Amino acid sequence: MEADIVIVGSGFFGLTIAERCANELGLKVLIVEKRSHIGGNAYSEADPKTGIEVHKYGAHLFHTSNERVWEYVNRFTSFTPYVHKVYTNHRGVVYSMPINLGTINQFFGAAYGPEEARALIQEQAGELSGKDPENLNDKGISLIGRPLYEAFIKEYTGKQWQTDPKELPASIISRLPVRYNYDNRYFNDTYEGLPTEGYTAWINKMVEHPNIEILTDTDFFDESQPYSKAALVGKKPVIYTGPLDKYFDYSQGALSWRTIDFETEYPECGDYQGTSVMNYADAEIPFTRIIEPRHFHPERDYPTDKTIIMKEYSRFAEANDEPYYPINSDKDREALLEYRRLAEQEDGVLFGGRLGTYQYLDMHMAIGSALTAFDNKVAPHFRDGKPLN
Ligand code: FAD
Ligand code: NA
Repeated sequence: MEADIVIVGSGFFGLTIAERCANELGLKVLIVEKRSHIGGNAYSEADPKTGIEVHKYGAHLFHTSNERVWEYVNRFTSFTPYVHKVYTNHRGVVYSMPINLGTINQFFGAAYGPEEARALIQEQAGELSGKDPENLNDKGISLIGRPLYEAFIKEYTGKQWQTDPKELPASIISRLPVRYNYDNRYFNDTYEGLPTEGYTAWINKMVEHPNIEILTDTDFFDESQPYSKAALVGKKPVIYTGPLDKYFDYSQGALSWRTIDFETEYPECGDYQGTSVMNYADAEIPFTRIIEPRHFHPERDYPTDKTIIMKEYSRFAEANDEPYYPINSDKDREALLEYRRLAEQEDGVLFGGRLGTYQYLDMHMAIGSALTAFDNKVAPHFRDGKPLN
């Protein structure tokens, strides 16, 4: 196919640009994807042993307050009424998260009303008052007081970063939400839910257009295939959603990421934990949380005698690991400025998505930024000959 535009990466950023280019501009679109499936990290599939839908790259919950994104995604899928809630195990007792009046009363063995609880937390948070927090540990104490911080945040954060919070910069957290009511909805957004037929059905629907061709198992940097960086850049408009540092051959150094190891188990029961996500707040438990995907779809006819769970272990990503969360150290930020400058100068290539911009983006943010990039860059390029980047 003689493509008008080549999109590198089939996550939500690339898929949204592809869909808009085909449906809105009538362009012929070629998607080049390194993995053997499309959908990026939102990809899910039925676990062969149980039939339960599992999110291969970590649990994905859709939520947004962006009207335009909500309208857009509903063109491809409906959403279930699933409302996300998270619990945490601390010293063998289960509390609801984010910290709310229920958590506070259970933790202190009390029956405080909102005002009493607020006053207590304010007093406890005043412990380090007058001092500028020098590390994440002090920051946590100054935000919610030592007792709640040490129970629910300190060791969990230490596990996520494999670093003592006293050694972590205060800037990692700007706020720690505490709700002085019993609302334990995890997300504050107007809309949330899970795609009724699953993520893969949604993803496939986005690229149904006959003008969209997809090449999986195809690496943009592999020069033995005809759609490589060397063959295309400067000759075809390219949307690049792979890693920013990789595109420039790590000339400014590798940007650092955290990754997650998933340990899958099949406990001998139909329901292991009664809920989809159980965090483990304490340092002595090596994993950060357990996901039980059957609970994402209580409406489905899943087997009642089998289940599947994943234990999550967080660590720094090495060269061959999946990059999941940008670390954003001072060194990363310096390199990032240079990479962004290089990206701007790269004619005919638009960098986007979480890897292409080195940013954590929720799905609604990846889709929203793709819609904006389409309006401001891609459509003007094809309609009026404006530069793509
Ligand atoms: P990606 O989905 O990462 O897609 C990039 C694609 O580019 C990949 O398919 C990759 O294989 C491909 N690619 C890379 N290099 C090359 C190359 N050289 N050649 C060809 N192809 C290449 N969001 C939510 O809204 N809710 C959640 O609950 C949620 N949970 C998450 C949990 C985890 C563990 C992670 C990591 C992310 C989570 N997200 C969640 C975020 C969500 O995954 C992103 O918003 C989404 O993946 C962004 O899409 P993208 O297109 O930017 O990137
Ligand atoms: Na560019």
